[in-house]
Amino acid sequence: MARSLGDWALDFLLITLAVTPLRRYTGVIWLARLRRMLGLFCFFYAGLHVASYVWLDQSCDWTAIARDIVKRPFIAVGVTAFMLLVPLAATSGKAMVRRLGGRRWQALHRSAYVIAMLGPLHCAGMVKDGVARPLAYAAIAASLLGLRALWREQERRRQLAGAYLPKVKGRIIPIAVKR
Ligand code: HEM
Repeated sequence: MARSLGDWALDFLLITLAVTPLRRYTGVIWLARLRRMLGLFCFFYAGLHVASYVWLDQSCDWTAIARDIVKRPFIAVGVTAFMLLVPLAATSGKAMVRRLGGRRWQALHRSAYVIAMLGPLHCAGMVKDGVARPLAYAAIAASLLGLRALWREQERRRQLAGAYLPKVKGRIIPIAVKR
């Protein structure tokens, strides 16, 4: 059961990260409204996944859990991913966006990208079923993160080009972009 709950958590994380590219490429604005709900689904399944590990697998034996974290690095990776998920879920509401301010909120929520890398790594520790599933997760996560890196680079170039376009009497004079 722990495994299928872990799968759902990672599925929802990747679906949440797919919302922005889908919205940008399809122009369907309302998709953005689904993002928070999908992110909370990810947290919900991750919480159940962790609870089933703590309760069913380890019978709430905290010493055994601590030993397991040290013995199996993939468990430590999962714990890190879950600890990063908690503040995201806690600050997902509109009131928290207002309280933190857009920039700080966005910076905090960028840790979703780290979780997207840790998830497949954690999953790869389960080599019982072969590497196909973690590889598929890693490929999807890499494409979603790669797209964001591409957009950032395009934005940086646009801003750089803008900085080298002096205005003379309201007219823009294009000059060569320095690199
Ligand atoms: C305290 C944190 C976590 C612990 C202790 C933990 C523990 C585990 C364990 C023991 C397994 C193997 C289950 C089995 O063989 O029955 C597993 C698998 C898995 N976990 Fe976690 N996990 C944690 C966090 C997470 C998080 C945050 C995610 C996703 C965002 C996640 C996604 C997965 C996935 C996808 C698998 C593999 C499922 C498969 O092979 O089909 N885990 N985890």
